[in-house]
Amino acid sequence: MCANVSSSKLLNTDKRQSLILIEKTAMNAPLSTHEIQALDSAHFIHPFTDHGDLATRGARVIDRAEGIYIWDSEGQRMLDGMSGLWCVNAGYGRKELADAAQAQMMKLPFYNSFFQTTNVPAVQLATKLASLAPTVGGRSFQHVFYSSSGSESNDSNVRMVRRYWDLLGQPQRKVIISRHNAYHGSTMAGASLGGMSGMHAQGDLPIPNITHIGQPYYFEEGLPGETADEFGVRAAGWLEAKILELGADKVAAFIAEPVQGAGGVIIPPDTYWPEIQRIVDKYGILLVSDEVICAFGRLGHWFAYEKFGYRPDLVTFAKAVTSGYIPLGGVMVGDRVAKVLIEKGGEFNHGYTYSGHPVACAVALANIELMERENLPGRVKDDIGPYLAKAYATLADHPLVGVAETCGFVAGLVLVKSKTRGADGRMQMFPEELAVGMKCRAHCFKNGLIMRAVGDRMIIAPPLTMTHAQIDEMMGLIRKVLDLTMADLKATGQLQ
Ligand SMILES: Cc1ncc(COP(=O)(O)O)c(C=O)c1O
Repeated sequence: MCANVSSSKLLNTDKRQSLILIEKTAMNAPLSTHEIQALDSAHFIHPFTDHGDLATRGARVIDRAEGIYIWDSEGQRMLDGMSGLWCVNAGYGRKELADAAQAQMMKLPFYNSFFQTTNVPAVQLATKLASLAPTVGGRSFQHVFYSSSGSESNDSNVRMVRRYWDLLGQPQRKVIISRHNAYHGSTMAGASLGGMSGMHAQGDLPIPNITHIGQPYYFEEGLPGETADEFGVRAAGWLEAKILELGADKVAAFIAEPVQGAGGVIIPPDTYWPEIQRIVDKYGILLVSDEVICAFGRLGHWFAYEKFGYRPDLVTFAKAVTSGYIPLGGVMVGDRVAKVLIEKGGEFNHGYTYSGHPVACAVALANIELMERENLPGRVKDDIGPYLAKAYATLADHPLVGVAETCGFVAGLVLVKSKTRGADGRMQMFPEELAVGMKCRAHCFKNGLIMRAVGDRMIIAPPLTMTHAQIDEMMGLIRKVLDLTMADLKATGQLQ
């Protein structure tokens, strides 16, 4: 178990004590969990974190990892059902990725690609990615723009989309349509493209010319008597309605995740993507597929648009391109956009110091080679994906589970108070203030399982290297934490 220490102890570490800790850190002397937590709280601002609250608990210190497991500083082992943060697709401890980084660091640790210069790993990776991205409906991807993250890549998308329409003499086409509850990153443009109201509430977002439509979430938005397929067509229709409301000549692009990840693993009905494709084609607007989570085997394909059969013009990637071992992101630029940017564009005034970083690209190449050798996308498609789907479907028997669904190697389930449908045709949910998802997540941590709570949706995205036995082990843990959550709710009178 991770040591818990009181806020006063963490925040009021006295001056003498903190000097000792700083000295110990400088000397690389081993630190206790408590000491690490004190320094963490004193110096490290975490992303998406309430720091006052964290200081009262002390951060869990993750110390090492191997395969699909991580260990904290107190020695507790946890099955990492989230692949870090949707990225460690190849699992932990893959020596060849470290070797690739080391070899490249010794040969050429960095050089920029601004000044008419390039480097071999960046060229090799772009060539490899172009060969992996399937051509759909005659549209291929021959070009890559590099960044270091998903957020930066989506900023690049905004720049490229606007530049594209400017070059075509339609500068009034500025608006990018996204969806509520989407996640496209945390920079100003990324957070604006995303549809997270909590993020918009801080920092005057979204920036101008970005707007949102509803998400294709059947469990929450489907009408009584409406099938999932009917709902899929209706949800896609919100895009057409928005285009007509804005005026088609004002709309530059539609951006969406193939399956919404951080929003809670929202899997669209089969009818959704074909209808979206019909609509973007009808109005000639660009389609951006944000595959920061869904690419590199996560849904059983190198790129997820192939699974759903749509034809994007730009594809965002990051995370699992290196299995998270080193930061790298980018945009696959389809022929339609690349042709205009290259042939009509002149200089494109956009780029990052680390665009095409040789070490990151070398690790990505080693990671892709490993994934090809172990056929990780194919395993998800034909073996462990269907195995997980079958096991996961059985969770629907659990009294707390309203719906349990998977897509490739992501899965979500909804915790409900009662499965009996009310007059509105919906199952009964727990009051939000009960934070049942967080209760369930606390049981996960205590019982050695990393599972994420998004409201009362519990989600997973485990490493693609999992064996059947490890999936069975994970399913056993999920059932256990569901039982413990139910027992808690009964004990406190929240459930009969
Ligand atoms: C779909 C999607 N887009 C963009 C991002 C942002 O990526 P990053 O955190 O690397 O900036 C994420 C991160 O989770 C994501 O899931």
